[in-house]
Amino acid sequence: PRTAAVIPAAGSGVRLGPGAPKALRPLGGTPMLVHAVRAMARARAVALVVVVAPPAEAAAVRSLLDEHPPPHAVEQVVVAGGATRQESVRLGLAVLPRDIEIVLVHDAARPLVPVDTVDAVVAAVRAGAPAVVPALPVTDTVKQVDAGGGETEPVVATPDRSLLRAVQTPQGFDRDTLVEAHDKLAADAATDDAGLVERLGLPVVLVPGHEEAFKITRPLDLVLAEAVLARRRL
Ligand code: CTP
Ligand code: MG
Repeated sequence: PRTAAVIPAAGSGVRLGPGAPKALRPLGGTPMLVHAVRAMARARAVALVVVVAPPAEAAAVRSLLDEHPPPHAVEQVVVAGGATRQESVRLGLAVLPRDIEIVLVHDAARPLVPVDTVDAVVAAVRAGAPAVVPALPVTDTVKQVDAGGGETEPVVATPDRSLLRAVQTPQGFDRDTLVEAHDKLAADAATDDAGLVERLGLPVVLVPGHEEAFKITRPLDLVLAEAVLARRRL
């Protein structure tokens, strides 16, 4: 089955601090987005990459991808993104050719995901799962608070950590299932794509995530990413 990767990259990166849109900031001298595209293109299954760019940067992203062609014969399409991540994913799904049957959705902000993780996600979708998510055990204890409880946010519960998983991307989907989930569900129905599929009442399968698939969110994450890249280049 033909597989495409949709890469939402239209965010500005507010938590990273002032500067260019996050996906365009350099990592080892190369824009984060280029690393993310390569990470998808390295997977043999991936035939097409759809980059969802910041609207003001769509032309710049197009030339950037032309300057950094992927190693294998992977088609690259650029579309302008929306105001939220979910909207950006929807805009990416809208341009998929009809023959695509499996879709990976991968954050540009996770540029260092290893190819083995991508392959494991694709394999689980091929094996019949409508939605597949790479996940790792949670290492911090997590508290649930009373959001209406004022500044002190009193703790109301401590969920059993052994039952919690932190999820990453790429998340992999049967194409029709993901499109249906995005079409049917409201913008605030879930905070990830697999969450939308869950809302349809369909099973979501986990595969092992990877430490190096962490999301670059805050400045310290960039320090870690540079260190991971430097270690790979040894
Ligand atoms: N994203 C997107 N369109 C948006 C918002 C986010 O395509 N309107 C993408 C980001 O580019 C990123 C991924 O969704 O690759 C995950 O989002 P996040 O890490 O939150 O990135 P930003 O939204 O850019 O960062 P911040 O929330 O700190 O502004
Ligand atoms: Mg965000």
